[in-house]
Amino acid sequence: MSETQKVLIFDFGGQYTQLIARRVRECHVYSEVVPWNISLEEVRNQRPVGIILSGGPSTVHDEKAPMIDPALYSLGIPVLGICYGMQLTAHLLGGKVERAKEREYGRIVVRMKESSALLAGMKSASFCWMSHTWQVAACPEGFEPAARTDNCPIAAMADEARRIYGVQFHPEVTHSEEGRLLLHNFLFNICRCTGDWTMEAYAEQAVRRIRVAVGEDGKVLLALSGGVDSSVAAALIFRAIGDRLTCVFVDHGLLRKGESDQVVHVFSHLFPVRFIRSDASARFFGDLKGVIDPEEKRHIIGRDFIEVFRAEAKALGKMDYFAQGTIYPDVIESGQGTNAAVIKSHHNVGGLPKELGFTELIEPLRMLFKDEVRALGETLGLPKELVWRQPFPGPGIAIRIIGEVTPDKAQIVRESDAILREEIAKAGLDRQISQYFTVLTGIHSVGVMGDERTYDYTIAIRAVTTDDFMTADWARIPWDTVATVSARIVNEVPHVNRVVLDVTTKPPASVEWE
Ligand code: XMP
Repeated sequence: MSETQKVLIFDFGGQYTQLIARRVRECHVYSEVVPWNISLEEVRNQRPVGIILSGGPSTVHDEKAPMIDPALYSLGIPVLGICYGMQLTAHLLGGKVERAKEREYGRIVVRMKESSALLAGMKSASFCWMSHTWQVAACPEGFEPAARTDNCPIAAMADEARRIYGVQFHPEVTHSEEGRLLLHNFLFNICRCTGDWTMEAYAEQAVRRIRVAVGEDGKVLLALSGGVDSSVAAALIFRAIGDRLTCVFVDHGLLRKGESDQVVHVFSHLFPVRFIRSDASARFFGDLKGVIDPEEKRHIIGRDFIEVFRAEAKALGKMDYFAQGTIYPDVIESGQGTNAAVIKSHHNVGGLPKELGFTELIEPLRMLFKDEVRALGETLGLPKELVWRQPFPGPGIAIRIIGEVTPDKAQIVRESDAILREEIAKAGLDRQISQYFTVLTGIHSVGVMGDERTYDYTIAIRAVTTDDFMTADWARIPWDTVATVSARIVNEVPHVNRVVLDVTTKPPASVEWE
């Protein structure tokens, strides 16, 4: 099978760099974010079909501004500079970059010159997202201005012969109404991409790489959490090496209703790996007895998890590799840049491999974004409910029980949460709300049930919409759904006589209650 085409995105520290990578991949073209100071030789080795220079906070006249070797422009590979990337291109090739008379910020009408291959098919006046203080005042030789705004006479520039382009606006953000078309033009008309990036192709490549990395008889150990990433990693490695993969699932008794059984079912029947379920709930509940401080709960659960896992791993004898479901945003954020291989020297994510004495990791998802991990999971045949699981914190429902965690309280959270999930799915909202769950608030209040006075628990419904979980808005669940959830919880879950709805944004509140 031939190698997948690749576009390199040079990272100059702009806030949208990851977004550019995602947009390119949405066009079925594989892209990788690389540090701006990657060597020319490394670029050549990677054989990209196109290069995108991202935006960034610097200005080209700063003493410490990130600069690239101008020889990059002579490799014969098409280049698209965005914002800082455009200014850098102008600066390095002999154009002029000056402070704009007026800073442009927001959605602004850009007048396009349609004759440019980059802007083909775009409207002559198109709304684009601008955010800049500096701009190109004179194009380098060989370039022509290709777009303008009222305040920015060179909002895009093009050297059609050498296939080098620059845009001052941000085509990658959705506020640029035809941004996708522009990127599509660059990829397909200019770089001549074929759109060969598919999940099936990725799975095949990853399987081959895992086989090479692990060798004929290498054994791999993976900690299954029941979440999307570790499950997809397990399914992929299983496809590569079958039962030379052993998965250890530490069941702390703090998962949602039905999840633990589903993990067992999937990895004993659909993907029959060597599977060990360690039912450690008694130990976790024992150690959490009397603990009310959220951080202490997290600490105890983290510590117990490592200890239980270590004991199970030890009993298995020697394993050669440790696998984990690290995904691309973590890799980019930790600045580990360019390594596309599935195998990586130990860099101690989470501490577990180091604790266990592993020096080499298998991380087959390290080049994938979350939505791609889900798509891969579907391609591999994992059940939809598992693949589309909402994020779930490592300490589980222990941080959704205010105060001491007990098996009875965990049961109340599990049952109420299952009702919420069922009704959200019935209302068709499960893919629209980013995260939703119930919280046992720890408050008792007075109620009446039949002729009896009750003094029981209050359950809170927490549901948020968000892109990145750094900020979040509370989800506007339709009142009818809220009403059904509330009625079902008080009727079906013993010891709950009141349901409240959390209507707080993050900040100031966090998503979880603890
Ligand atoms: P917060 O509560 O910090 O949540 O606004 C943001 C996102 O992070 C998840 N979260 C955790 N995930 N271990 C995890 O693995 C934790 O201790 C933890 N605390 C919060 C939370 O579910 C939400 O998706």
